[in-house]
Formats: sequence, structure tokens, C-alpha cells
Amino acid sequence: MDVRDLVRGHYGGRNLSDTILTALAEAGTDVEQITAADLFPLDQLHAGGVAATRHALDRLGLAPDMRLLDIGCGIGGPSRLAATYDAQVTGIDLTPEFVEAATALTARVGMTDRASFVATAGESLPFEDDSFDAAVMVHVGMNIPDKQAVFAEVNRVLAPSAPFAVYEQMRTGEGDLTYPLPWAVDERSSFVESVEDYRSHLEGAGFTIEDVEDRTTSTLGAPPDGPISPLVVFGPAFGQRIGNNVAATKAGLLGAMLVVARA
Ligand SMILES: C[S@@+](CC[C@H](N)C(=O)[O-])C[C@H]1O[C@@H](n2cnc3c(N)ncnc32)[C@H](O)[C@@H]1O
Repeated sequence: MDVRDLVRGHYGGRNLSDTILTALAEAGTDVEQITAADLFPLDQLHAGGVAATRHALDRLGLAPDMRLLDIGCGIGGPSRLAATYDAQVTGIDLTPEFVEAATALTARVGMTDRASFVATAGESLPFEDDSFDAAVMVHVGMNIPDKQAVFAEVNRVLAPSAPFAVYEQMRTGEGDLTYPLPWAVDERSSFVESVEDYRSHLEGAGFTIEDVEDRTTSTLGAPPDGPISPLVVFGPAFGQRIGNNVAATKAGLLGAMLVVARA
């Protein structure tokens, strides 16, 4: 099976916005009055949650009316956080059910004028050259075999010298990974690479590397849990997946790395 079909199958298949609104209502939230902040505990589908997203957006120097591209936007969590900076956000994602949920949840919190979403692969972006002032990619490359192809597209649609923040699970040591992991049930759709590999793919796509930050220690707190967490999105099987991710991190095989580059 094609990698992209495996990835879509891994993440998609459920009516997520209804599932999420039901979980929020059961936890006592008035879903007629929700804000983006009510969703942050469950819509940040990466290590470190909303604090990690905020850190990456701050490294971009995100400011009002900047045009931000969010590659692999998931259900729109990082995009909606960026919209709270009054940026103009476009999220793209391979998984149509995630794009539907991102669109529905963004409408529900009244941010449609600030964030919109398109179902497409990062390898072929339906945008003109120089369409964006900044880009972010959060925990997506682990599913992408040819990262340089995606980075070349990001470089094409960014304005000259625009910043790009790439926050990913990366290889930090040798040794077999134990599956399932949060992004893949086996090696067929898992392409974790080292920070050196990312550097090379980014530079090969025309970016200049500005900084590399090891964010791993900031992600080693208690794993997400409770009625309002990414478990709502991923289902109960997520517990084992995140457990394998945490074990691999503690064993020095994986780390949460942020690379800041410039087009
Ligand atoms: C772990 S989720 C992260 C979602 C979001 N960035 C966040 O942090 O909340 C990974 C996302 O990457 C998307 N993805 C994987 N491969 C992709 C590709 N080639 N192009 C676009 N999106 C992709 C998946 O559909 C999924 O939504």
C-alpha cells in the first residue's frame, strides 16, 4: 500500500468534531460558548502540547496579519493558536477527516476569518510562489519518506527570507524502535530521521539553518491523560503508542527537536 494511504488510514476514519464536542460536553464545557483555548488540551497532537507550539510560533516572530502556512495541521490546534496572534493562517493536511474537523472546530470557536484548511499533501502545495510570510511543521515529517520534496514546496511558497520552524520527533540514537508509535503502527509509514538529516534536506531545498534546539526535556512530563486530552482524538490505543514513544525517548533513541530555518 502507498505510504500516503497508510498515513490517511492511520489518522482518519472518524467523525472527530462530533467526538470532540461530545467529550467536552461530558466534561462540563458549554460547547455553545467554546474558545480555541478550550480545545488546546486535546488538539495539539505532538509532544509538549500547547506550550511547545507557542514556543515554535514565538521563534517565527509571529505577528498580526503575517500569513502563516501550517504543514500537516492535524485537527487545527497549532493553526488556531497562531490565529490567537492575529496571524492569517492556512493549514494543509493529507488526512481529509482531520481537515474536516479542523474546519468545523475553527468555525465553532469563531475563527474562520483567521484560519482555513485545505486537504492536500505537503509534497504538492496548491499555492502561488511567495504566498506566505512564515511556515511551521509540527510532528509531521515522521510520516514523510521524502522530506526534501516537502521542504522544496514550502520554500517555493514562502516569501524570500521567511522563517520556517520544524518541530519533530527525531532520531537521537541507534537502536530498534518499538511499534506502535503515535504516528505509525509499523515501519511502513515511519521515517524518523536525525537532525543532521533534517539539516541536509532543508539545505537541499534552499533553506539556511538558523538554529537547532533540543526540546526533549520540556516534553518529559506526565503523558496526556484524562477526559480532555489527545486520547479523545486517537482513542484508547494511543496510551500504548505514547508509552512506546516515551520509552524510546528515555532510552535516547528519540528526541523532540526544533529546527529554525530561513528561506
Ligand atoms: C502527529 S499529527 C500532527 C498534527 C499537527 N501538526 C499537530 O501538531 O497537532 C501528523 C499529521 O501529519 C499529517 N501528514 C502526514 N504526512 C503528510 C504529508 N505528506 N502531507 C501533509 N500532511 C501529512 C497527518 O495527516 C497528520 O495530521
